[in-house]
Order: sequence, then C-alpha cells, then structure tokens
Amino acid sequence: MADTSGSPNTRSVERVALASPDPVARRLEELKALFPMAATDGQLDWDKLRALSGEAVASGPERYGLSWAGKSDALKALRQTTTATLRPTVAESEKWDRTGHAIIEGDNLEVLKVLQHAYHGRVKVIYIDPPYNTGGEFIYPDDYSQGLASYQRFTRQVNEEGHRLTTNLDKSGRYHSRWLTMMYPRLYLARNLLREDGVIFVSIDDHEVHNLRHLLDEIFGEECFVAQVIVQSNKRGQTYKEVAKTHEYLLIYSRNPDVALNELEKSEAALPYADSKGSFDLWELRNRNPKFGRFNRPNLFFPIYVDAAALDENGYAKISLQRSAAMDVEVFPLNSEGVEGCWRWSREKIAAADLTSATPELVARQRKDGGWNIYEKSRKTTTKVKSIWAETGFISEQGTVELGELGLGAVFEHPKPVQLVQRCLRIASGPEDIVLDFFAGSGTTAQAVFELNREDGGDRKFVLVQLPEPTGRKDFPTIAEITKERVRRVIRRLEGARANGDRAGDLGFKLFKLAPSNFSIWDPALAATEPEQLTAQWERSADHVRADADGDALLYELMLKSGLTLSSRVDRADVAGDAVYRLDEGRLVICLSREMTRERFGALIALRPRSILCLDIGFKGNDALKMNAQLECRSHGIQFRTA
Ligand SMILES: C[S@@+](CC[C@H](N)C(=O)[O-])C[C@H]1O[C@@H](n2cnc3c(N)ncnc32)[C@H](O)[C@@H]1O
Repeated sequence: MADTSGSPNTRSVERVALASPDPVARRLEELKALFPMAATDGQLDWDKLRALSGEAVASGPERYGLSWAGKSDALKALRQTTTATLRPTVAESEKWDRTGHAIIEGDNLEVLKVLQHAYHGRVKVIYIDPPYNTGGEFIYPDDYSQGLASYQRFTRQVNEEGHRLTTNLDKSGRYHSRWLTMMYPRLYLARNLLREDGVIFVSIDDHEVHNLRHLLDEIFGEECFVAQVIVQSNKRGQTYKEVAKTHEYLLIYSRNPDVALNELEKSEAALPYADSKGSFDLWELRNRNPKFGRFNRPNLFFPIYVDAAALDENGYAKISLQRSAAMDVEVFPLNSEGVEGCWRWSREKIAAADLTSATPELVARQRKDGGWNIYEKSRKTTTKVKSIWAETGFISEQGTVELGELGLGAVFEHPKPVQLVQRCLRIASGPEDIVLDFFAGSGTTAQAVFELNREDGGDRKFVLVQLPEPTGRKDFPTIAEITKERVRRVIRRLEGARANGDRAGDLGFKLFKLAPSNFSIWDPALAATEPEQLTAQWERSADHVRADADGDALLYELMLKSGLTLSSRVDRADVAGDAVYRLDEGRLVICLSREMTRERFGALIALRPRSILCLDIGFKGNDALKMNAQLECRSHGIQFRTA
C-alpha cells in the first residue's frame, strides 16, 4: 500500500501547527491547510466544507467567491466513486517491458479517479492545456451519476457515429458554467496527485483566464498562486480585433505556498565580460531600491576608495575600504540626484572579498560624467524565470511546425510548442520526476519529456491522458490515435539519433485504456476520493473476478489498488507453473493462480515478501486452505490479502 504517513496534507498541517500558539486558531489553520478550497477571503467557509464532505447545503446569496450554475454538481462528481480501471494494451504500446512512460486513453475525470491511490502525492509537474472555451469547442459530456457507463456510451457512439457529440456554444446560457463544472472536479483530483513540492501549469487565454484563476485560487489556495505568465503566442497579432492580441497565459500554482522553482541557464550574452576566472556580468554595489538608504541603513553608508591610476586590461580599477596614496578617490553610494543611498554589502563582507587579488570580485569603473561606480562581478550562470515568455520558440505556430516535421501537420490544430512545455519542466522538475498531462492532445508533453531527458540525461516519466475524441478522419478516427502516433514517431526519430551515438534513455510507452473493473463486485454507493477510503472500499468490494479478465489486466488493476504506479517495475517469475509477480522491490507478491495449493502458497512465502496478494477464486471456496495460508503468513510476519 502507498505510504500515507507523510501524506502532503499531514505535512502541511504540521507546518501550520507550529505557526499559532492558540489551539483553536491552530485547528482552524489546519483545516484551512487541509481544505484550501473551503476557505473564502482567508476565512473557513463551513458551508463549503460541509458541501465538500457531501452534505446538501443551501447557499446564501452574499459571500465572496466563485459561484456558477452547476457547482454543486461538480462537487458531487468528486464524491462519485469510479467503477473503472486501466486495461493494459500491450499491442499498441512501445517496448512494454522496458518503459515507465504511460499513455492512457479515456475520459480524464474517470482516469484521475482511478489514479488517486497509486499517484497520490507523487506527481512533480502537471502541465495541462484544456479546451479554452472559445465557443463551439468539444466539451466532454460528463454524467456524474454514471461516469464509466456514460464514457462507454460515448466511445460506442464515437465508433458508431464517428462525429462530435457535444460542443459548448457561446449562445447557450451556461457557457462559462459548463466549462467550470467540467474543470472543477478535474483540477481538484489533480491537486491530490501533486507532490508536496509539486507545481501545476495551465495554459489558457482571455476567454476563461479570470474564471480559471478564481477556480485555482479556490482549489489550491490563493497563497499557492505562483504566477500568471504571459506567453507571446503570435508576433503579428490578431489584426481583425481592435487590439491585435499577441499573447495567452500560463497560470502557475504550487501544491504548497513555499515551493521553489529551478532557475534557468543564462544565455552567453548575459555574461558579457571575462577575466582569467571566466565570464561575468557587472552588478552595481549600490542598492538601487529607494526604500533603502542612509536614513534606514546607516551602517551600509560608508566610503569606498578607488585607485583611479591603475586600470586593468578591461578598464576596471581596484578598490579598498582604506584611503591610501594610491587609493585616493572617495566614492559614496549616491544616486544620480546625489541622494544618499546605501551599499548592498556590509564593510565586513567587502573586506572578506580579497580586494588585493589580481582578479578581485569587486571593482570600480568610471562613468561618463567622471564619477565612479562600484561593481560586483556576478558569475552566476542561472537566472529566475521571468513572467513574460516572448521567445520565438513559444509562438503557437511553432507547435504546428513541429507536428509537421513529424508528418502530422494537418491532423491536429493548435498543438503547443515543445519548448513551452519544456520550460515548465526545466523550472519545476528534476531528472527523476513524474510529469502528468491529462489533456494530452497530440502528445507534445511526451515529446518535451523525451527530449529534455535526452538533453540532461534525466529519467522523467510521463503520464498522458487523452479522450478518444472523434476527429471525423479515416486515418486517425480519434485524437487518442494521433497522440499515440505522434509519440511513436518521436521515438523513431530519437532512436535514429541514438544510433548516431546520442543518449536517449527510456523511449517507449505503455498504453492503457479506461475500462470497467475486472472485479465484478463494486460498491458504487461508497464515495471515496481519499486513498485510505479507496483502500477500505477496495478491500470490501473486490472479490469476484470477471470471466474475461486476463493476467495483465488483473495485475495492473491490483497494482493500482495496492498503491503502485503504472511505471512500477514488474518482475515475473514462474512459481510451480503459475505466473507470479514480484513488485515494489520484492516487497509485494501478486499471484493470479486460479488453482491455489499448499505447495504453491509455500513457494510464495519462500519469496519472503512483506505482503502476498492472491485471487480469492484461486482457493475455490476451500476455507481450510485459505485459513492455513493466513496462518502461515502470520507466522512469517507477512501480510496476506485476497482479491
Ligand atoms: C487544447 S488540446 C491539448 C493540446 C496539447 N497540449 C498539444 O500540444 O497537442 C485539449 C485536449 O484535451 C482533450 N480532452 C478534452 N476533454 C477531455 C477529457 N474529458 N478527457 C481527456 N481528454 C480530454 C481534447 O480531446 C484535446 O485533445
């Protein structure tokens, strides 16, 4: 089972608990940290909290917050249990046995529910590019009361009729409401999957950016807002409008308020100077912030002396804190109007900077007006990401060009540029992290992960979710077909590069399809989104195997329900003629035998796992055999479960 002892919620509670000495205030802070979506204007909204727990609550008319027609339906959607699982589809996968990447075909609401337990608190970066609600776009027709059944109906209709089923037309009175109702439960479930230091990036434009910010504020908490980045998506602009719009947005929220982002590598041009130690930039030592000056930082106001007569090959002079015959030019931190400011460094820090070295880190340079500026040589090669992304690589057209290079230019509209997703990954992911995109489209995120791994030797794993949305095309009847084909073509290309000696890493993907659970008894009345509840629910309900369930399908369903991700390593062993799977570094053994015997069970125990999971039907109602297995396990300190 997944380790929930250090679950994100518990840890954030610990942190706030330290903050307030008043026990009641502390409890309230804890509740706010656990349920940021139930806090309004910094106060806990009890009605919202009750609504989140499934109670029917009449809403009052006057309160700050985002409200729309259908919000309570969206909350209900969260409480609705899924009866689905993910069926492995080896034939459509690439290098099934060797890959940890996953593409999932299905409605992302159901898929996010299926992933709740195994991926809880494990995803470092989520990038999504949902429908922008520009009018007339396809919006999946959620039916909360029968999520999987309506998905199955949807896929059948897609196959039979092959056309778009639902569009959200501007004319419909509930235009924004429908979109919000679609987004709310998905974002809520997505947040559960983020790691403590996880970050979500959402592409959006003017149609819904205001609503999306409200929604993300509600779900993540305003304090987890990181930035609303402006992405220049079009250089010329949409000239048919009064203002030629050239941008869209990228909203960034973190799972917790104090999450740090990686800095970006500076370009060479950003370090324009060089000495024998290497390249550097010059940063003025005077504090240019007018909030600080001699008036409030008197200890940072003192003279620095310059040796104006001896300049180095770049025209810089040495400095000192003491006046001498050579160091005879006195410099104070004054701004251009002569106002007394202050230095950024204290006397002690300056004195420790080895000012007499051949290449000192602090130098002086004469201005055109004859005065002198004191500079720090900054050799920092990284810089914080800025809030406007205007590089050519982020222009929307670039996404189409990239898809065109793979021979798929005409099959998918508005794919995102690979560099856009890559920048998100650069600033928010490390080399071993899990990246999730549940509006995958053409699969840009997969390409971004493959290429970034190749560049920095990383082993990030992606999980992509894409609906089999009909395209009306014969070659690619659904968008999910396009996703898979793009990823395959990127793999071929990168494999070609590997043949030339390039490193490539994991170039494959496992394909899964949303499908009904392989266990025919499931209690849909039980609502659960928290991992503990899911586990309890699972233990109570999954005790009959569907007749048509094959080994891989059962294995992956049991893995997900045991808290193991789709990229978990599976070691297959043959034990007394039956396939046995060793997982979680041998800690868990899953046996799918339908003919359990004492000898067979003994062989499982001999593998010395912490836990054994068998099919209940394998015992064929032989309670004595099952009891014996239970006792044997207990005597070896092994947990025993049946499914
Ligand atoms: C704007 S596109 C994403 C494009 C993608 N970023 C790219 O670069 O190709 C949004 C995608 O979300 C998919 N989508 C919409 N509703 C969905 C749902 N309920 N489940 C899964 N995918 C869905 C659409 O089919 C569409 O492919």
